[in-house]
Amino acid sequence: MTDNLQLNAEGKLKHFLTIEGLSKALLTEILDTAESFAGMSEHQVKKVPLLRGKTIVNLFFENSTRTRTTFELAATRLSADVINMNIATSATSKGESLLDTIRNLEAMFVDMFVVRHALSGAAHFIAQQTAPHISVINAGDGQHAHPTQAMLDMFTIRQIKRDFSSLRVAIIGDILHSRVARSEIQALNTLGAAEVRVIAPKTLLPAHVESLGVNVSHNLTEGLKDIDVVMMLRLQKERMSSALLPSESEYFKCFGLTEEKLKIAKPDAIVMHPGPINRGVEIDSKVADGPQSVILKQVSNGIAVRMAVMAMAMQTAPAPGRFSGIHTIPGDRHAGSLPAGGIHTIPGDRHAGSLPANGIHTIPGDKSGVA
Ligand code: CP
Repeated sequence: MTDNLQLNAEGKLKHFLTIEGLSKALLTEILDTAESFAGMSEHQVKKVPLLRGKTIVNLFFENSTRTRTTFELAATRLSADVINMNIATSATSKGESLLDTIRNLEAMFVDMFVVRHALSGAAHFIAQQTAPHISVINAGDGQHAHPTQAMLDMFTIRQIKRDFSSLRVAIIGDILHSRVARSEIQALNTLGAAEVRVIAPKTLLPAHVESLGVNVSHNLTEGLKDIDVVMMLRLQKERMSSALLPSESEYFKCFGLTEEKLKIAKPDAIVMHPGPINRGVEIDSKVADGPQSVILKQVSNGIAVRMAVMAMAMQTAPAPGRFSGIHTIPGDRHAGSLPAGGIHTIPGDRHAGSLPANGIHTIPGDKSGVA
């Protein structure tokens, strides 16, 4: 048994609300499961039926480009039915409470909510209130947490650097208002990074920030020394209640990442940013588009990581490292590298005979379908 709302009675992921309280083993399982899905993007048909028959509702009460789209793509690739609630045209705009919205969607036999909300704790609240069979994934709540962003960033770091234990990571910018920073710090410390360093003006750091398990610098040129991973953050002006900076140009002069400043970090340092980026405010275009930038790789990896989290929360994820392969199009040049006994999604796919007895058939007219 566990008292962590995120885990079921067997200690498996049920909701994904925050990195806090999750073990290194579970975070590693998410990364390993995502690894199983990562290659799918190169296939012509990018689908597996792991969430076939499940209904997922994207409930985004705040704007999003990357998170909402990659959650939708991930759900689609898992063969779920996806509803994107348009909050602006929903009954929320007529005064319906969050709880009433949830109750009404539950009545439509929903299996999962993916929630972004301006209030910290919104996803946690829904997870507490919703029916027991429903999973809730936090797609960013206020200044609190953005756990899938942290995990796709961990995935990207592991892909390039392999091992966390020797890594020094700098998180630079508006730490105070950043849910991404909080989740990154928790994930990096849980996965055993050698050092997490935050670099920011005093006005953009939370009180007692050291208690989060970080070293602090207020000087970018000093703070970048020996750094392997440079994570830039946007100034979250929409969350600033007062003027915390003299001006954006002053901020860029002191804390903006330029090619010259990046040279202070290790020569093979990578540059990350969760997006959206503000060119000329926290990062120079030459760095954002330069050879050390992995910003778009982060976006791509969001699909595999979100597939992993959704499949794990629905208890349908393949065992890490034992994924039975994804057969897409006969003749697909990637198919030969996949192990046998995979999952077939193409009508008329001649590999169908190799499906396991309890397999999932999607071929019209196939008489050997699921018993
Ligand atoms: N990184 C991130 O959350 O981006 P979006 O706001 O576009 O989803």
